[in-house]
Amino acid sequence: MFDLPDFDAHEGVHLFHDRDTGLKAIIALHSTHRGPGGGGTRFWRYPTSTAALTDALRLSRGMSYKNAMAGLPAGGGKAVILADGPKTPAMMEAFGRAVDSLGGRYVTAEDVGMTQEDMVTIGKVTRFVSGLPAGEGELGGSPAPATAAGVFEGLKAAAERGLGRSAFDGVRVAIQGIGSVGGRLAELLAQAGAKLTLADVARERAAELAARLGAELADAESIHSADVDVLAPCALGATLNPQTIPAIRARVIAGAANNQLATPADGAALAERGILWAPDYVINAGGIIWVTRAYLGETDEAKVMAEVHAIGPRVGDVLNRSAAEGRTPGEVADAMAQRLIGR
Ligand code: NAI
Repeated sequence: MFDLPDFDAHEGVHLFHDRDTGLKAIIALHSTHRGPGGGGTRFWRYPTSTAALTDALRLSRGMSYKNAMAGLPAGGGKAVILADGPKTPAMMEAFGRAVDSLGGRYVTAEDVGMTQEDMVTIGKVTRFVSGLPAGEGELGGSPAPATAAGVFEGLKAAAERGLGRSAFDGVRVAIQGIGSVGGRLAELLAQAGAKLTLADVARERAAELAARLGAELADAESIHSADVDVLAPCALGATLNPQTIPAIRARVIAGAANNQLATPADGAALAERGILWAPDYVINAGGIIWVTRAYLGETDEAKVMAEVHAIGPRVGDVLNRSAAEGRTPGEVADAMAQRLIGR
């Protein structure tokens, strides 16, 4: 385990098994240098347990970097539950007890395959869970609007540098994935005067929004090569890869999706083509800022949103350093994040 390429000096990797409910879970804690490891739980069917471990390790390191760059008092951790069978409330409670056994070194949240309801069930047995529905006078609820708001600010900063445009009026933006974040981002951009092209594998969803916002509709298979100024990946990861990069016509890429680059080499390939890329974990931190501040008891929405809006200048700073130092934006962000977590 210690020799796995993704181990990267994790502070701890915990394996949990509950015979009664069939729970098999891995909680990876990359760093608690800045605070308890914060990061969601993924419920996913993996081909092997090694694949599950690799995913947990990569995701938890990603959370260390994301939380550090967001300026949060949180470290990085992530949990995966191996979906070998059905997900039951009893299994969620067993998982909650696993989280609780770490005594607050790891605080969980929702990720792929998990629901608000699961979080509420987990919350019955541990207080180390964020992203719960808001109670009276509390902040809470879906992180997606805050994520979209942060992406909007980051996209503005990237467009300033990559296109020399400080306003969105007439800027052509293609959005790949019109889900919770992509849909909201489309509305913000439309309000700001951008000309939108939308695509989603759920074509109906994109068509409906396109009609409402007066946007163009494109195929999900070819949206990456749309003739636009900015491409905003808001679907799944690894959409920037050796197959797609040569066809991209946008000069700026800035979107919400996690792990947009298939490999770090794709960051270099974008730079070689003169395409400006806003590192995903810097620009998409709005949601984690929202849920973490709510978890820490913050009730002032304006204060939290000011923190989300600071993503714009932060993306700008990374891109400025990248230009000045001749390193890719990804390399610059990684180095900044590593310094922040004392590595
Ligand atoms: P979502 O599940 O609501 O939306 C994703 C959308 O992408 C869906 O409409 C889906 O049909 C579409 N899609 C899937 N594959 C596609 C493809 N190949 N081409 C075009 N469309 C495709 O997810 P959500 O919450 O909007 O998140 C979007 C991305 O942003 C994900 O990568 C997620 O990990 C990331 N993210 C989300 C955050 C949040 O607050 N929800 C926070 C940080 C990152």
